[in-house]
Amino acid sequence: MEEKLKNLLLDASQALSSATDLDQLNDIRVRYLGKKGILTGVLRGMGALSAEERPRIGQLANEVREKLEDVLNSRTYKIKNRVKEARLEQEKIDVTLPGTAFMTGSRHPLAVIQEEMEDIFLWMGYAIEVGPEIELDYYNFEALNFPAEHPARDMQDSFFTAPGVLLRTHTSPVQVRTMERTNPALPVRIIAPGRVYRRDDDATHSPMFNQVEGLVIDKRVTFGDLKGTLRVFAEKMFGPETRTRFRPSFFPFTEPSAEMDISCTTCGGKGCRVCSHTGWLEILGCGMIHPRVLEAGGYNPEEVTGFAFGMGVERIAMLKYSLDDMRLLFDNDLRFLAQF
Ligand code: DAH
Repeated sequence: MEEKLKNLLLDASQALSSATDLDQLNDIRVRYLGKKGILTGVLRGMGALSAEERPRIGQLANEVREKLEDVLNSRTYKIKNRVKEARLEQEKIDVTLPGTAFMTGSRHPLAVIQEEMEDIFLWMGYAIEVGPEIELDYYNFEALNFPAEHPARDMQDSFFTAPGVLLRTHTSPVQVRTMERTNPALPVRIIAPGRVYRRDDDATHSPMFNQVEGLVIDKRVTFGDLKGTLRVFAEKMFGPETRTRFRPSFFPFTEPSAEMDISCTTCGGKGCRVCSHTGWLEILGCGMIHPRVLEAGGYNPEEVTGFAFGMGVERIAMLKYSLDDMRLLFDNDLRFLAQF
């Protein structure tokens, strides 16, 4: 019996050591150590042993079982470890590889420019006002002293939604709306940013675009105040080296009226393709508020004067970013937007 047990220990150890996975190990365990296994089979012969031999063989059998369980445990541990390592090997990542770049959103260039414009005027003490995009003919034209036969009042040039109602063609109607809701004893110093609509569509015109309107009313406001204010704006917006010039112009709601040019942002004034070799770029319309407009807003032109100005946000964005087609600002092509 002793011989049988020793052989069993040898055979089972060998079988366990050569097992390569947990299923095999389990099969071997069942075969040698299971309830109906070989060890149990050997021990069944114990009854034939003498009383002195029985405890010795019993102890030997226990030792064999313990040894085999040790081998089984260490083998199980090794196989589990090997499986784990194989998995880690597969999952291994090379931390030196370049990362996967992902797109982050950014603000639209128009929003950035408009905020820059707003910040300059807020810094100068202006408040921000808004008005409706669907506007009455009265505020868009009549109160602004447009004559009845003015071409902009034609269905061909503006988007009318109903008789006497249209998509505003400029932000100037906010002038009269602001005056109406302000006590005429108080000064006004506001800008009005917002969308405007015209029947235009080409590389430099869009049927919808954005303007920033300005309005200042107080006692003894002069054309000099207007020039100084807009000059500071131009220097802040386009850089301290920027020069400005004012040319006489005409708007129904201002008298006198002017257009302001800035020295070319591309050539600095020497003359190039961008400025059509003039050295100058027109950026806004302005003027002293027409007495009739002050009256429409409830202000007395004998007591106060004021200036106003209006400019296109897209035009300023195009100059700042050297764009030659306004449609780039509305196409929402990520190849374009991702550059800002
Ligand atoms: N409203 C004019 C336009 O859309 C721009 C403008 C010119 C606004 C002169 C003004 C101004 O306030 O004084 O072209």
